[in-house]
Amino acid sequence: MGKTTRPPRASSLKREIESAAASAEIARLKEQLRASESAKAKLAATLDRHLHTAKARPIPPAKPSRRGKEDIVRVIIPDTHGAKVDKGALAACLGDVKALDPDEIILLGDHVDCGGFLAQHHTLGYVAESAYTYEADIAAANAFLDALQAAAPRARIDYIEGNHERRIETWALTQTLRNSKDAEYLRRAFAPEFLLRLRERGIPYYRQGEFYDELPIPGTIRKGKCYFFHGSSTAKQATTVTLNSFAGNVVFGHTHREQSSSARPVHAGQIKAWNPGCLCELQPLWQHTNPTSWTHGFAVQLAAKSGEFLHLNIPIISGRSLLGSLAGKFQ
Ligand SMILES: [Fe+2]
Repeated sequence: MGKTTRPPRASSLKREIESAAASAEIARLKEQLRASESAKAKLAATLDRHLHTAKARPIPPAKPSRRGKEDIVRVIIPDTHGAKVDKGALAACLGDVKALDPDEIILLGDHVDCGGFLAQHHTLGYVAESAYTYEADIAAANAFLDALQAAAPRARIDYIEGNHERRIETWALTQTLRNSKDAEYLRRAFAPEFLLRLRERGIPYYRQGEFYDELPIPGTIRKGKCYFFHGSSTAKQATTVTLNSFAGNVVFGHTHREQSSSARPVHAGQIKAWNPGCLCELQPLWQHTNPTSWTHGFAVQLAAKSGEFLHLNIPIISGRSLLGSLAGKFQ
């Protein structure tokens, strides 16, 4: 009798089936992995090609956009102080003015120093402050205006009186024992407004003792959505103090320190006060007991017909403007 083959046991059959299924699953996974690696390699190659192409073709520099017909460039120049001007800082400012070719210029006041006409807080006879003459002071201010008008021949220039120009008016009143007609006669003979030939230059002058643009603060003018005046606060945070009193955008000089403050009142999205600094000597001798924190600078506004504007305080550090080559892009 021949040997008979015993049928496989059920458990053994099950193991074989499971083993075959596992092998098929492993093969499927291997195939999936190969496909995935192939896709990854393709993606890497594409990325590499794009990066290489991007390197080969650098993005061209954007062309500077031309100024819209109704937009204007406004330059704001703070305290230059006549004979006490810082020549390097002024030259840097005038270089930028020439490049900007502004439509408007606002002079924030104190463009003569009048050191011989002492302010109340100065010591009578303190020689260092009156080493230059009033004639030299006026000559320096005239030279500044000549250079400014040559650098910006198209610009309308507005001149806001500062407390230093006003010294001549108070001097005239004192000399004439407050006789207003005699005081006015002296003022017309000696005040910077006349010695700087502002009428002949076509430059309007705004006095601290008069109101303009129907505004309740004397010596203040408005351009679009911004007020301008010489400044009165000497507080450490003068921009905050001034912003509180104006409750609107305002630019002023007077403190000789670059500064700004902003607020978000209920009536407006945001308002701001700016002080661009000054363009005079940074450490006058009358401040010998008080090293100053004065800084050089001026300001530029890009203003739209709507009155809205972008304000930029431009610092001048060691006689060098940080606006530099950017100036040409505004034209
Ligand atoms: Fe000043």
